[in-house]
Amino acid sequence: MASGFTLIYKTLLLIFSLFIVSHSLTTDTLKQGDVFNSTHRLLSKNGLFTLGFSGSYLVINYTNQKNSPNHPVWSANRYDPILENTGLLTINGTGSLTIVHGGGKPVELYSGNNDSSRNVTATLHDNGNFVLQEANSGGQILWQSFDYPTDTLLPGMKLGINHKTGKNWSLTSWLDENIPTPGGFTLEWDPNARQVFVRRRGVVFWTSGVLTADNRFPNFVSLDSLNQNYKFTDVSNSDESYLSYSLYFDEWTPEDRRNISEWFLDYKGNIRDGGGRPFIVSSEACDGSREEFGCQKWEGPKCRTDGDKFALRAGYFVDRLEDTSYNTSFIDCQDSCWKNCDCTGFMSASYTCTLYGGLFYNTDLRGGELSYFIIIPGPKCK
Ligand SMILES: *[C@@H]1O[C@H](CO)[C@@H](O)[C@H](O)[C@H]1NC(C)=O
Ligand SMILES: *[C@@H]1O[C@H](CO)[C@@H](O)[C@H](O)[C@H]1NC(C)=O
Ligand SMILES: *[C@@H]1O[C@H](CO)[C@@H](O)[C@H](O)[C@H]1NC(C)=O
Ligand SMILES: *[C@@H]1O[C@H](CO)[C@@H](O)[C@H](O)[C@H]1NC(C)=O
Ligand SMILES: *[C@@H]1O[C@H](CO)[C@@H](O)[C@H](O)[C@H]1NC(C)=O
Ligand SMILES: *[C@@H]1O[C@H](CO)[C@@H](O)[C@H](O)[C@H]1NC(C)=O
Ligand SMILES: *[C@@H]1O[C@H](CO)[C@@H](O)[C@H](O)[C@H]1NC(C)=O
Ligand SMILES: *[C@@H]1O[C@H](CO)[C@@H](O)[C@H](O)[C@H]1NC(C)=O
Repeated sequence: MASGFTLIYKTLLLIFSLFIVSHSLTTDTLKQGDVFNSTHRLLSKNGLFTLGFSGSYLVINYTNQKNSPNHPVWSANRYDPILENTGLLTINGTGSLTIVHGGGKPVELYSGNNDSSRNVTATLHDNGNFVLQEANSGGQILWQSFDYPTDTLLPGMKLGINHKTGKNWSLTSWLDENIPTPGGFTLEWDPNARQVFVRRRGVVFWTSGVLTADNRFPNFVSLDSLNQNYKFTDVSNSDESYLSYSLYFDEWTPEDRRNISEWFLDYKGNIRDGGGRPFIVSSEACDGSREEFGCQKWEGPKCRTDGDKFALRAGYFVDRLEDTSYNTSFIDCQDSCWKNCDCTGFMSASYTCTLYGGLFYNTDLRGGELSYFIIIPGPKCK
């Protein structure tokens, strides 16, 4: 079958190479029959967002990455990485939005339908939503990236439940800094509790507190009112129950907080925003032992006491507990150390995980040594 797909890919390449690209590469819209390869970009009309291939993924970025975490706000194919530099994004005659590539089965984002007289286009909107819709009057929306959140919530996106489709709008972190595969943390809106929840492998890690009448979440740590210029919308009806937010600003709002914002759930469970804002949730504060700022306590083994926590230190261990394991994310590595009463520290690098026991030899003063996360004992009360 792979050769069949390769044939499709080569045929498309051939057909497309006969086309003359009829529009500039800085358009915001992809039309039926357009060529969109790994070097092309769509740019939203206001210039804020860019869509294009990046390595093995089709992504949307803030165009100016300096004002936001250096991370895509959306990825089309996080479950299906493609062979680098071979991706072609296409809308075919029946409206199917598909990534064709050199490495096998095409990735279908929208399957289209049977009506060959369709005229559809896909546009990267000013709010970062990539929308496939009928070009003619009415402009019915067929598919939109905002319905398939990855690890980032942009202003205008929904968090919650679509009662019509039964689907949830929620975020799932990457496995590791550079690995888009779904990782250990999820972020969701619970319309009954009226709170935002972050879970770590299913266990509640952090909660926002109940949305107040004056439009605040008690556990969104904010140094001052300009950090989080968020206006929340909380909707619940028979079709859907969701939370979304938009930005408000006044004359004192810093320039880059007027149109740059995102809730980015990173692979360690932090929630970060752009525009130079401080973290909304700092995962370091949430280590299972404290309940400040919305952090939740979770059950640990008897050998861990309240106040025990991980800290990053330079130095070395003599005793390695077990062989290095692979394909283990940072948080899963941390968790396996926490649960192993012989573990006194761990190292997690490029999704390998090594646990250590015994004494740690601190060399902070000399420097130049490797860094480990070691368990610092808390005050032993009782
Ligand atoms: C993408 O298409 C352009 C023509 O618009 C062409 O010059 C370029 O070589 C193509 N890039 C790839 C990687 O196919
Ligand atoms: C998105 O940002 C990443 C990281 O800065 C960069 O490598 C990539 O080329 C960007 N992609 C697009 C489509 O702008
Ligand atoms: C468009 O793609 C879909 C799904 O890949 C396929 O079923 C359909 O036949 C294609 N339509 C045309 C006109 O090629
Ligand atoms: C598409 O139309 C053909 C011919 O009318 C029909 O046989 C086929 O079942 C239809 N396919 C779908 C997916 O509706
Ligand atoms: C599709 O719609 C656009 C915008 O309305 C129009 O410019 C274009 O000619 C249409 N294409 C076809 C094939 O009908
Ligand atoms: C959607 O969220 C609700 C409430 O949080 C939960 O009960 C349900 O299992 C979720 N459904 C899916 C498909 O994840
Ligand atoms: C973003 O906001 C700044 C400050 O108000 C403004 O100068 C800039 O034009 C805005 N950019 C976009 C794309 O709206
Ligand atoms: C890690 O995962 C990848 C992808 O699933 C797999 O190809 C690789 O063999 C795994 N590595 C190890 C050491 O298990």
